[in-house]
Amino acid sequence: MDTVIIAIDGQASTGKSTQAKKLAENLRYDYRDSGAYYRAITLYLLDNDIKFDLNISDKILDKINIKQTYQEGQFSIYLNDDDVTDKIRGHKVSINVSNYAKKPEIRKFVFNQLRKSSESNSLVVDGRDIGTVVFPYADFKFFLVAEPKIRAERRHKQINDDSVKVDIIEEEIKQRDKTDSTREIAPLKKAVDAFKIDVSTLTIDEVFNKILQKIKSD
Ligand code: CDP
Repeated sequence: MDTVIIAIDGQASTGKSTQAKKLAENLRYDYRDSGAYYRAITLYLLDNDIKFDLNISDKILDKINIKQTYQEGQFSIYLNDDDVTDKIRGHKVSINVSNYAKKPEIRKFVFNQLRKSSESNSLVVDGRDIGTVVFPYADFKFFLVAEPKIRAERRHKQINDDSVKVDIIEEEIKQRDKTDSTREIAPLKKAVDAFKIDVSTLTIDEVFNKILQKIKSD
């Protein structure tokens, strides 16, 4: 059976995973959150006090077993059998993940996991380099962008914690965009054949309809 791959890349907090999950449900495809792999690996390495400026050997990576599931609209991620779905969204992981995601050995690990998932399933995958590096021959590619201020406000609402200030979130988002787009390996950039959507002034449903329309019209 031929499998179909849909890549949804873009800047931090543009709603990539929301769109990817909706799409996977609509088309009855499986879903993979590539950022969640980077986050789970970061969590493991931080917990084990392994700094990002060290070489992460195969011996260490072999101890990391990650599983993602998407069932009945519910995404879960397991790190060595522990459910870390909520834990990987914490502040400590968020401010460290881009430093670990720069590392070639970690990118290779995630690349292999995603490629393996695609062998038997049609997939919607969201991330930064899905349409450029992981699946350059994806059947459909989307690239989401938005104003940093708007992204920070949306993330602030999602976090629902008044002790975290919007300005701080905006700075973090800008910093993450910078680290992601200037790194040497697999930088965040639009694939030439990706369909770009500025989601700054659009609702979730409006973005979703644009994506669906594009898929149906091609
Ligand atoms: O949800 P959000 O856009 O904030 O981030 P995420 O998708 O959870 O990804 C977290 C981080 O992982 C990103 O800021 C990147 O540093 C890294 N990442 C990456 O390098 N390549 C990917 N394909 C996905 C995520």
